[in-house]
Amino acid sequence: MNKIEKAGISDVPQMHELINHFADKGEMLARPLSEIYENIRDYFVVRQGERVVACAALHIMWVDLAEIKSVAVAEENQRQGIGDQLIEACLREAKELGIPTVFCFTYQPTFFKRHKFVDIDKMELPRKVWSDCFRCPKFPNCDEVALICHLEVRA
Ligand SMILES: CC(C)(COP(=O)(O)OP(=O)(O)OC[C@H]1O[C@@H](n2cnc3c(N)ncnc32)[C@H](O)[C@@H]1OP(=O)(O)O)[C@@H](O)C(=O)NCCC(=O)NCCS
Repeated sequence: MNKIEKAGISDVPQMHELINHFADKGEMLARPLSEIYENIRDYFVVRQGERVVACAALHIMWVDLAEIKSVAVAEENQRQGIGDQLIEACLREAKELGIPTVFCFTYQPTFFKRHKFVDIDKMELPRKVWSDCFRCPKFPNCDEVALICHLEVRA
């Protein structure tokens, strides 16, 4: 079982490399170093020794809404359950914070659907969630799928 931990500032260069490796292949949105530093408290990582082999972020958007973003597992560490563990860690944190809905934009809907994410029309999400989209090279011709997960949280 891999240990999921909150990211530290010294993890950022490796997280940046990991995320942008997949972004270069068109599999996810690129993130500049500055954005990862600014949002470091959003991120979980999996480390093997000194190496960061995976990361994922839970970004709070509003009182009832958060986004899972930048889920990346190094190719040689895929299919070992790390992605699943990262999604569960993000959903657990959302629940602990009392946030009942978590969405994502992804090219991997089948993977997210394992965690009770369901399809949602992008237009049903508040415009605020589009803040990243304006910086995406594909905007406005987005071909990612929007998914949402409803959590049971305390009243
Ligand atoms: C998608 C990704 C995060 C999955 O990570 P992973 O660690 O390989 O996933 P896991 O090992 O936890 O897989 C869990 C299950 O999902 C399945 N799965 C993994 N990737 C999948 C995919 N792309 N589509 C469908 N199912 C997938 C696995 O087969 C496994 O199922 P099983 O237990 O029945 O065999 C990883 O492939 C990745 O980093 N891809 C590149 C970046 C990316 O696309 N990120 C996601 C969008 S932001």
